[in-house]
Amino acid sequence: MGVGGRGGRASASPRARLRFVAALAVFGVAFVTRALAGAGGVAPAQQTTRDKVFAKAQATRGSDLYAKHCDRCHDPAKVPPGKKPGPPTIGPKFIETWQDRTIGELFGSIMNTMPSDGSITLTADQTLDVVAYMLQANGFPDGPIAMKNDDATKEIVIVKGQRAKGKGRGEGKKGRR
Ligand code: HEC
Repeated sequence: MGVGGRGGRASASPRARLRFVAALAVFGVAFVTRALAGAGGVAPAQQTTRDKVFAKAQATRGSDLYAKHCDRCHDPAKVPPGKKPGPPTIGPKFIETWQDRTIGELFGSIMNTMPSDGSITLTADQTLDVVAYMLQANGFPDGPIAMKNDDATKEIVIVKGQRAKGKGRGEGKKGRR
Protein backbone atom coordinates (compact mmCIF):
# COMPACT_ATOMS: atom_id res chain seq x y z
CA MET A 1 0.00 0.00 0.00
CA GLY A 2 2.75 2.29 0.95
CA VAL A 3 4.39 1.81 -2.36
CA GLY A 4 1.13 2.22 -4.26
CA GLY A 5 0.46 5.44 -2.36
CA ARG A 6 3.78 6.85 -3.21
CA GLY A 7 3.29 5.92 -6.85
CA GLY A 8 -0.05 7.72 -6.81
CA ARG A 9 1.48 10.88 -5.42
CA ALA A 10 4.25 10.79 -7.97
CA SER A 11 1.78 10.59 -10.83
CA ALA A 12 -0.38 13.37 -9.33
CA SER A 13 2.56 15.65 -9.03
CA PRO A 14 2.35 17.43 -12.41
CA ARG A 15 -1.30 18.16 -11.76
CA ALA A 16 -0.49 19.48 -8.34
CA ARG A 17 2.08 21.73 -9.85
CA LEU A 18 -0.48 22.95 -12.35
CA ARG A 19 -2.89 23.70 -9.53
CA PHE A 20 -0.19 25.60 -7.76
CA VAL A 21 0.49 27.70 -10.84
CA ALA A 22 -3.23 28.34 -11.29
CA ALA A 23 -3.52 29.42 -7.68
CA LEU A 24 -0.58 31.74 -8.11
CA ALA A 25 -2.21 33.27 -11.16
CA VAL A 26 -5.47 33.87 -9.30
CA PHE A 27 -3.62 35.36 -6.38
CA GLY A 28 -1.66 37.56 -8.76
CA VAL A 29 -4.77 38.88 -10.47
CA ALA A 30 -6.40 39.62 -7.13
CA PHE A 31 -3.29 41.42 -6.00
CA VAL A 32 -3.04 43.56 -9.11
CA THR A 33 -6.75 44.35 -8.96
CA ARG A 34 -6.43 45.50 -5.38
CA ALA A 35 -3.40 47.59 -6.20
CA LEU A 36 -5.24 49.25 -9.08
CA ALA A 37 -8.26 49.94 -6.92
CA GLY A 38 -5.98 51.56 -4.40
CA ALA A 39 -4.33 53.72 -7.02
CA GLY A 40 -7.78 54.68 -8.27
CA GLY A 41 -8.02 57.30 -5.57
CA VAL A 42 -9.81 55.73 -2.63
CA ALA A 43 -7.28 57.46 -0.43
CA PRO A 44 -5.61 60.26 -2.41
CA ALA A 45 -2.15 61.32 -1.35
CA GLN A 46 -1.99 64.24 1.03
CA GLN A 47 -1.83 67.53 -0.86
CA THR A 48 0.72 70.06 0.24
CA THR A 49 1.36 73.70 -0.54
CA ARG A 50 3.91 72.54 -3.14
CA ASP A 51 1.19 71.02 -5.32
CA LYS A 52 0.14 74.19 -7.18
CA VAL A 53 -2.91 74.59 -5.04
CA PHE A 54 -3.83 78.20 -5.81
CA ALA A 55 -4.31 80.29 -8.94
CA LYS A 56 -2.21 83.27 -9.85
CA ALA A 57 -5.20 85.62 -10.20
CA GLN A 58 -6.25 84.65 -6.71
CA ALA A 59 -2.84 85.51 -5.31
CA THR A 60 -2.89 88.82 -7.18
CA ARG A 61 -6.21 89.76 -5.59
CA GLY A 62 -4.82 88.65 -2.26
CA SER A 63 -1.77 90.81 -2.73
CA ASP A 64 -3.95 93.93 -3.03
CA LEU A 65 -5.91 92.98 0.06
CA TYR A 66 -2.73 92.25 1.96
CA ALA A 67 -1.21 95.61 1.02
CA LYS A 68 -4.35 97.42 2.15
CA HIS A 69 -5.20 95.54 5.31
CA CYS A 70 -2.25 93.54 6.61
CA ASP A 71 1.07 95.07 5.65
CA ARG A 72 0.94 97.97 8.03
CA CYS A 73 1.24 95.61 10.99
CA HIS A 74 3.09 92.68 9.46
CA ASP A 75 5.80 94.46 7.51
CA PRO A 76 8.30 95.71 10.10
CA ALA A 77 9.31 98.48 7.69
CA LYS A 78 5.78 99.89 7.76
CA VAL A 79 5.08 99.63 11.46
CA PRO A 80 5.47 103.00 13.20
CA PRO A 81 8.50 103.26 15.47
CA GLY A 82 7.83 102.04 18.96
CA LYS A 83 5.02 99.76 17.84
CA LYS A 84 5.57 96.04 17.81
CA PRO A 85 4.99 94.44 14.41
CA GLY A 86 2.88 91.32 14.05
CA PRO A 87 4.72 88.06 13.42
CA PRO A 88 6.11 87.71 9.88
CA THR A 89 3.76 86.14 7.37
CA ILE A 90 6.46 85.87 4.73
CA GLY A 91 9.77 84.08 5.10
CA PRO A 92 11.32 81.16 6.97
CA LYS A 93 9.93 82.20 10.34
CA PHE A 94 6.40 81.94 9.02
CA ILE A 95 7.01 78.51 7.50
CA GLU A 96 8.62 77.37 10.72
CA THR A 97 5.54 78.34 12.67
CA TRP A 98 3.08 76.92 10.21
CA GLN A 99 4.69 73.84 8.70
CA ASP A 100 2.73 70.63 9.16
CA ARG A 101 -0.38 72.63 9.93
CA THR A 102 -3.17 72.95 7.40
CA ILE A 103 -4.47 75.69 5.16
CA GLY A 104 -7.69 75.28 7.12
CA GLU A 105 -5.96 76.36 10.32
CA LEU A 106 -4.27 79.31 8.67
CA PHE A 107 -7.50 80.30 6.98
CA GLY A 108 -9.38 80.04 10.26
CA SER A 109 -6.88 82.04 12.20
CA ILE A 110 -6.93 84.88 9.66
CA MET A 111 -10.67 84.75 9.25
CA ASN A 112 -11.29 84.85 12.99
CA THR A 113 -8.59 87.16 14.27
CA MET A 114 -7.24 89.36 11.47
CA PRO A 115 -6.90 92.26 11.01
CA SER A 116 -6.57 92.32 14.76
CA ASP A 117 -7.78 95.93 14.97
CA GLY A 118 -11.09 94.95 13.41
CA SER A 119 -10.64 97.56 10.68
CA ILE A 120 -12.31 95.24 8.18
CA THR A 121 -13.97 91.85 8.20
CA LEU A 122 -12.71 89.75 5.33
CA THR A 123 -15.12 87.43 3.57
CA ALA A 124 -14.17 83.77 3.20
CA ASP A 125 -13.23 84.36 -0.44
CA GLN A 126 -11.09 87.36 0.43
CA THR A 127 -9.38 85.33 3.13
CA LEU A 128 -8.62 82.59 0.60
CA ASP A 129 -7.17 85.22 -1.72
CA VAL A 130 -4.92 86.45 1.07
CA VAL A 131 -3.84 82.89 1.87
CA ALA A 132 -3.03 82.37 -1.83
CA TYR A 133 -0.93 85.51 -1.78
CA MET A 134 0.88 84.37 1.34
CA LEU A 135 1.69 81.03 -0.33
CA GLN A 136 2.93 82.81 -3.42
CA ALA A 137 5.03 85.23 -1.40
CA ASN A 138 6.54 82.27 0.44
CA GLY A 139 7.66 80.81 -2.86
CA PHE A 140 5.01 78.18 -3.54
CA PRO A 141 3.97 77.63 -7.17
CA ASP A 142 0.58 78.59 -8.59
CA GLY A 143 -1.46 76.34 -10.84
CA PRO A 144 -4.55 76.35 -13.04
CA ILE A 145 -7.09 75.91 -10.27
CA ALA A 146 -7.97 78.37 -7.52
CA MET A 147 -8.34 77.30 -3.91
CA LYS A 148 -11.95 76.89 -2.98
CA ASN A 149 -13.61 77.23 0.35
CA ASP A 150 -14.01 73.46 0.76
CA ASP A 151 -12.73 70.53 2.78
CA ALA A 152 -10.08 69.53 0.23
CA THR A 153 -8.51 72.97 0.47
CA LYS A 154 -8.63 72.99 4.23
CA GLU A 155 -6.70 69.73 4.41
CA ILE A 156 -3.76 70.97 2.34
CA VAL A 157 -0.66 70.79 4.49
CA ILE A 158 1.81 73.65 4.74
CA VAL A 159 5.32 72.36 4.18
CA LYS A 160 8.86 73.58 4.25
CA GLY A 161 11.20 73.65 1.35
CA GLN A 162 10.42 76.76 -0.64
CA ARG A 163 12.70 79.70 -0.71
CA ALA A 164 10.76 82.85 0.05
CA LYS A 165 10.83 85.63 -2.48
CA GLY A 166 11.79 89.16 -1.57
CA LYS A 167 11.56 89.63 2.13
CA GLY A 168 12.42 86.03 2.90
CA ARG A 169 16.08 86.73 2.29
CA GLY A 170 17.35 85.95 5.77
CA GLU A 171 16.90 82.26 5.13
CA GLY A 172 20.65 81.64 5.23
CA LYS A 173 22.69 78.48 5.13
CA LYS A 174 20.23 75.63 4.86
CA GLY A 175 17.72 76.88 2.34
CA ARG A 176 20.36 77.86 -0.19
CA ARG A 177 21.53 75.72 -3.03
C1 HEC B 1 -3.44 96.12 13.65
C2 HEC B 1 -2.33 95.27 13.32
C3 HEC B 1 -2.60 94.03 12.45
C4 HEC B 1 -3.25 93.96 11.25
C5 HEC B 1 -3.91 95.10 10.46
C6 HEC B 1 -3.17 92.58 10.83
N1 HEC B 1 -2.50 91.83 11.76
FE1 HEC B 1 -2.12 89.83 11.67
N2 HEC B 1 -1.34 89.89 13.53
C7 HEC B 1 -1.14 91.04 14.28
C8 HEC B 1 -0.57 90.69 15.56
C9 HEC B 1 -0.18 91.65 16.68
C10 HEC B 1 -0.44 89.28 15.55
C11 HEC B 1 0.12 88.39 16.67
C12 HEC B 1 -0.80 88.27 17.80
C13 HEC B 1 -2.07 87.60 17.43
O1 HEC B 1 -2.02 86.45 16.95
O2 HEC B 1 -3.13 88.21 17.64
C14 HEC B 1 -0.93 88.82 14.27
C15 HEC B 1 -0.97 87.48 13.87
C16 HEC B 1 -1.25 87.07 12.59
C17 HEC B 1 -1.10 85.72 12.10
C18 HEC B 1 -0.59 84.56 12.89
C19 HEC B 1 0.91 84.59 12.70
C20 HEC B 1 1.64 83.46 13.31
O3 HEC B 1 2.57 82.99 12.65
O4 HEC B 1 1.32 83.06 14.43
C21 HEC B 1 -1.46 85.72 10.79
C22 HEC B 1 -1.43 84.55 9.83
C23 HEC B 1 -1.87 87.06 10.46
N3 HEC B 1 -1.72 87.85 11.57
C24 HEC B 1 -2.32 87.46 9.24
C25 HEC B 1 -2.85 88.71 8.98
C26 HEC B 1 -3.50 89.06 7.73
C27 HEC B 1 -3.67 88.12 6.55
C28 HEC B 1 -3.91 90.34 7.87
C29 HEC B 1 -4.69 91.17 6.87
C30 HEC B 1 -5.98 90.64 6.50
C31 HEC B 1 -3.49 90.82 9.17
N4 HEC B 1 -2.84 89.79 9.81
C32 HEC B 1 -3.70 92.10 9.64
C33 HEC B 1 -1.43 92.33 13.91
C34 HEC B 1 -2.12 92.68 12.76
